[in-house]
Amino acid sequence: MPIIPDLIESKRVIACLGSGGVGKTTISAAVAIAAAARGKRVLVLTIDPAKRLADSLGVSLGSGEPQVIETERLLDAGLTDPGELSVMMLDAKRTFDALVVRHASSPAVSERILGNVFYQHMSEHLGGTQDYMAMETLLGFLEEDRYELIVLDTPPTRNALDFLTAPERLTDAIDGPAMRWFVKSFDGSKTLSFDLLAKGAALVLRGMGRITGSGFLDQMAALIVDLNDLFGGFSERAGRVSARFRGDEFAYVLVSAPKSGAISEALYLREHLQQQSMSCDAFVMNRVRVGAGTTTSLAEVEQQLSESNVALEGGEEAVLQAIRENIALAEAEAVQVSAFRERIGSEAPMVAVPAGGEDVHDLSALVEVASAFS
Ligand SMILES: Nc1ncnc2c1ncn2[C@@H]1O[C@H](COP(=O)(O)OP(=O)(O)O)[C@@H](O)[C@H]1O
Ligand SMILES: [Mg+2]
Repeated sequence: MPIIPDLIESKRVIACLGSGGVGKTTISAAVAIAAAARGKRVLVLTIDPAKRLADSLGVSLGSGEPQVIETERLLDAGLTDPGELSVMMLDAKRTFDALVVRHASSPAVSERILGNVFYQHMSEHLGGTQDYMAMETLLGFLEEDRYELIVLDTPPTRNALDFLTAPERLTDAIDGPAMRWFVKSFDGSKTLSFDLLAKGAALVLRGMGRITGSGFLDQMAALIVDLNDLFGGFSERAGRVSARFRGDEFAYVLVSAPKSGAISEALYLREHLQQQSMSCDAFVMNRVRVGAGTTTSLAEVEQQLSESNVALEGGEEAVLQAIRENIALAEAEAVQVSAFRERIGSEAPMVAVPAGGEDVHDLSALVEVASAFS
């Protein structure tokens, strides 16, 4: 069985990783389509679909709930006898809020946290929050049996690796030395030592970005006390998420493009996956120029052009020039791809996805991309 169908049949989570812009969101959606085509009940958790793709998937409104794509539309896009495809846009803030509500010791505590200005800032801007909340959402769905397979698109983080260490980083941020410093500054007596708190605040604010306004120390202090209440819940969950990342039910698909920058990043990411004891189950080389690695030569093209009945009205030279450029680019890409092949080993499962002429923005285009998997 080809690699992607094999993963679809044997895994519960397929996470698509890669550097920015290589096609993680597109490939995630296409993998989900391929799963639906195989009759699976599949959910794709997506992060940042381009507007037109989001519109055609029906997730533009960001309801925070999975949206089921109507069977009719899957049939129209060319699937026969599809399973069920749901799409959900990840929303870090909403997930964090839900976690607070779930883990707080009382409704009064959760209300206080949700209303806190520091919390509001932190839940959206603290490093790692988006990555971590993606994991939380995923874990939530894994614990239900609603979906046979979950495909995870990963956030456009500065560094794709951030995603892998999100649980550890978020726990460090919330339960780190600076936070403990804060908590300690309340002492056993629960009265605030202003000096200590101010020092601690400087530390934390450096990490959070500056927040000004009156009463910030009071707000901060209140939040620390309340979050302290949640520490146990968060760290325990982060530990569990982290362990599941490395389990058999997870597959990692590394998406790259046939460009030297994207390829070096993919190789770097692969190395770090290994260091983190995570498997790299498949490589997807996305947007490969059609023609790369085929026998099409410029001479053949010139021959065909001269034989064709199409009246180019003196535009032959421009057409030839465009074709020459395309062939040159395809050759340069083929060199990149074979260098990549050499590095990952000839046994490593790699799938090439041809570049579509246009952006991939609707279900039929996704079905087209998915056809490269089988
Ligand atoms: N195989 C492909 N053919 C044509 N366009 C593609 C292909 N893969 C991705 N794209 C386009 O490239 C852009 C970036 O893709 P996207 O999936 O959003 O990347 P990422 O999620 O990695 O940032 C989008 O406009 C998408 O439609
Ligand atoms: Mg994306």
